[in-house]
Amino acid sequence: MAKKDSLEIAEDVDFGFKTVDKAEKPSRVQKVFTEVSQKYDLMNDLMSLGMHRLWKRKFIKEALKHKPTSIIDMASGTGDIGLGFYRALNGAVQLTLCDPNPDMLKQAQDQAINRGITKNIEWVISPAEDIPLKDKQYDLYTISFGLRNTTDLDQALSEAWRVLKPGGYFYCLEFSKVFVPGLRKIYQEYSFNLIPKIGKLVSKNEDAYRYLVESIERFPDQESLAGRMRACGFEKVNFMNLSGGIVAIHYGMRPLNEYN
Ligand SMILES: C[S@@+](CC[C@H](N)C(=O)[O-])C[C@H]1O[C@@H](n2cnc3c(N)ncnc32)[C@H](O)[C@@H]1O
Repeated sequence: MAKKDSLEIAEDVDFGFKTVDKAEKPSRVQKVFTEVSQKYDLMNDLMSLGMHRLWKRKFIKEALKHKPTSIIDMASGTGDIGLGFYRALNGAVQLTLCDPNPDMLKQAQDQAINRGITKNIEWVISPAEDIPLKDKQYDLYTISFGLRNTTDLDQALSEAWRVLKPGGYFYCLEFSKVFVPGLRKIYQEYSFNLIPKIGKLVSKNEDAYRYLVESIERFPDQESLAGRMRACGFEKVNFMNLSGGIVAIHYGMRPLNEYN
């Protein structure tokens, strides 16, 4: 009798420019973030020349237009977005920070403690594809520079949809496709040649930063991601480009009428 395992068709997914078995990707991604967690914030500043702070500020401002009182920040990492919401709303929010990597989330927890943030905040260790939380809980779901690390983007979208209340909003900040002539070439030169070297110097880890750069190249462009959000069931889907498309903010609403 043939063993069940031998009949299963292995599914390959991107891991940067490499192709790996789907089952292998989460542990590989986990290893990258465990290795960079201590130097993650410093590296973000160096790699983006401080721009990530402006992009995140804009992202928070846009998402807050929907006046959420309950927010889940997925792929929270060191907590820039989740703790940013907390500060912007003076703590008047029910907040969940979620990330599969305990080392990254620990950095966020330390920052929260340092800022005296202890109330109305919940910490969940989980990937975006399988959130151990109830349906229809949140007014707002955010994911910043996290979606491209998921193994199954469509499953992550559908889990976001599930935990959002009808009428709730999904917001994603992610690297995207540069559309300004000339800027794309400069940006690619910088990304592929300089970022891994900065990674090597600062966090002694060239490979982790090579993965991060490659995963940006592999991520769907603005229109493709918007299409996948619509296919998942989101309404009012749209995006805005920042810095010539280096990053984009995508957003969409879980329909009020479930049968749309
Ligand atoms: C580049 S960091 C972004 C952190 C933070 N959101 C920010 O904007 O600075 C990516 C985060 O995605 C997390 N991650 C990796 N795989 C994930 C998955 N399948 N689901 C959710 N988060 C994931 C990593 O652990 C890491 O903390």
